[in-house]
Order: sequence, then C-alpha cells, then structure tokens
Amino acid sequence: MTLDLVSIRAAYPALRDGHAYLDGAAGTQVPESVISAIAGAYEGGIGNVGGAFPASARSDAIVEAARRAVADLVGGDPRGVVLGPNMTTLTYRFAYALSRTWRTGDEIVLSRLDHDANVRPWVQAAERAGATVRWAEVDLPAGELPAEQYDTLLGDRTRLVAVTAASNILGTMPDVAAITRRAHDAGALTYVDGVHATPHTPVDVTAFGADFYATSAYKWSGPHIGAVVAAPALLETIRPDKLASATDDVPERFETGTAPFADLAGVTAAVDHLAGLDSGAAGTRRERVLASMAAVETHVQAELVHLLDGLAALPGVRLIGAPRRRTATVYFTVDGHTPRAVAEHLASRGVNVWNGHNYAWELTAALGIRDQGSAVRAGLVHYNDRSDVERLLAAVSELR
Ligand SMILES: Cc1ncc(COP(=O)(O)O)c(C=O)c1O
Repeated sequence: MTLDLVSIRAAYPALRDGHAYLDGAAGTQVPESVISAIAGAYEGGIGNVGGAFPASARSDAIVEAARRAVADLVGGDPRGVVLGPNMTTLTYRFAYALSRTWRTGDEIVLSRLDHDANVRPWVQAAERAGATVRWAEVDLPAGELPAEQYDTLLGDRTRLVAVTAASNILGTMPDVAAITRRAHDAGALTYVDGVHATPHTPVDVTAFGADFYATSAYKWSGPHIGAVVAAPALLETIRPDKLASATDDVPERFETGTAPFADLAGVTAAVDHLAGLDSGAAGTRRERVLASMAAVETHVQAELVHLLDGLAALPGVRLIGAPRRRTATVYFTVDGHTPRAVAEHLASRGVNVWNGHNYAWELTAALGIRDQGSAVRAGLVHYNDRSDVERLLAAVSELR
C-alpha cells in the first residue's frame, strides 16, 4: 500500500513547470491519461446522444462510462449519478427542485463549516419557500463541527440537513455519519458536500448516510465537471424544471442541455487514474479506488504532520484550527504580512497557494478574519511530495 511518487508525478505534464502545486483544494492538475482521453474523444468523433450513427453511440457510451466511474469512486449506483457543470450549479438545481415541497414553518439545518456552495443555494431556497434556516456552529479554536448539537437543531419540521464531508479551508472532517443518522431519525434528507473530501479519503456514500453526495472532478485530477450521487428511487421522487422535449428519465431529467461529452471521457480516465495510484491494488475498479485512496490518505497525512510541525516552528505563523480528523489542508497567517502578500511571496518562490476566504464565507466571518483578507491555504493531494512541503516552509521562513 504505497505510492510511487516519482511515476505519479511524471504522469502530470503541468508539474514539469517546476512549481510546487499546493493549490489542489482549488483545483488539481490532470494527468496525461485524462488529457488524451479528452482529446481522443474528439479525435474519434462524437455526436449528440441518442442518434442512429456510431459517433452518437460513442457519446452514449462515454456518458454511461462516466456514471459508472463516479459511482465506483464514491460507492454509488451509476443510475443515480447526475452529471453537470460543477457542484454549485447542481446544488442550485437540487435546492430549487427539493424546496418546491417546503412550506412555511419547515426547517433546514446548515453548517457554518461549509463552503458557500452548500449554504447559499439552500438559504435562498428556504427564503422563497418561507422555511426557517437553523445553523450548526463551529467550535472555533478547534475548528470542529460537533455532531451532538444536531440533537437540538433537528425537529419534526426539519426537511433537509446540508453538511460538508470536509472543510475546504481547515480540512476538518466532521463525523458526517453521526450527523446524517440524527437527520434521518428526524425524517430529514441529507445533502453532503464531498467536493473537498473526495480527493483525500476513500469515500462510501452509504457509510456517510448521504442521500445526496456532491463531488467535482476537477478536485480529483479530472476535468471541470460536477456530479451529485443519489439513490435512483429518491431521484424518481423529485421533479426538477426541465424542457418538455427532454427525457423524463432518471438521472437524465436533472441534466439540462447538451453534456460536454469529451470532458466526460476525462472523468472516466481520472477515476481510472486514481484507481491505479497504488500499483499493488487489485480487484474491481471500486476495490482499487478504495485501496489507492487509502494509500493517498496515508501519504498526505504523513506529509501533513511535517507541514504542520514545520509551520508551528516558524515565528509569527498562526495556524487556524486544529481538527482531530482532517484532510491535508492548512490555513494560516503570518504576522506582519497580509495573506495576499504571503501568497505573492510564495508565488515568487514557485509555490502555488491560495489566499482569501476561499468561499468559506460563513466560517471566515465567524473566525473574524473575512474582512482582513482571511488567511493562506495550502493543501496536499496525491501528487505532492516532501519537496513541495520543504519549499513552502523555506519560503514562509523568509518572511520576517
Ligand atoms: C468544499 C467545496 N464545496 C463546493 C465547492 C464548489 O464546487 P464547484 O466549483 O464544483 O462548484 C468547492 C470549490 O472549491 C469546495 O471546495
């Protein structure tokens, strides 16, 4: 259960520019296999779906393969994989559709740990429906989202609980199963944002208790495509707005317009790539994905320890949050320097990191840092190695 970092890194043409890509939480690089799958789809000839000729059949096959791939990645049913442009757009679509049955006095529970894409679509849908929003709060010094608070937040009017599987800035991985169990006991649906979690850990949507699980391929070395995974039977109960001429089948009725077929070929290639990260992994693609993502987690967690220890040893560096279970994502400030200045200095040393709120809108406000430029985020994914960490630490240590 080990990763061959040399060959993994060699698979990524973008890494040849010599930068330390510690910005994976905002979007990962893609391996050659994904690039050639996308190019290959165009080269082979594709058409719109459902036609009588071979190029159309190739697009049909690409779409079905992408659904199977996403299902293998997260442990879902391919017939319940809704594909779309990104998680935000899909979440707005589901918020709109689900809230059509909400009534005045109904309640939804959101968390301040979440990316705004799993907050604002629900807030706005609740406003339209006259439903009440209740908030799960973050234990700020720790950066934790305690599950017990849901006991008092949930009631018989709760219709939906939206919660993240991992914070995109602090890395916090809340006890999602404990939260969704409480939500289900109250009769509510659960919408789990897996965008940040998916590239960092083996995912099983059933173990999460996620009625809906959202993920974005560009965070796991794929193209800019989002997906929401749900049970087909649940999707059958939901009626999104759609064209009269478009199919009413599930999951297609949630997918408006013509899909980016070539990019979808890249989604499948990305899952195949992830499944092959641990070259010793065997079995079905699902089994190889689970083994590889476990190996990824072990690798990045080891580097995270080095990163956290290194940053903690640097004078003036303040780490935000110390969650027990987290992705390899850190959020920090450096005394005397704005987050933007830190990011610019790191960029001058060939180290790519993000500065700002990173759309963790509620959390950065709760932390009291949103109006001061928030903080700097650095994160590790499967292709990052010790040299990336060392370069970040060396560059930060130059700031005095
Ligand atoms: C945790 C999390 N949720 C949601 C999103 C939004 O995803 P998308 O860009 O696919 O809309 C992001 C993007 O950064 C994210 O990190």
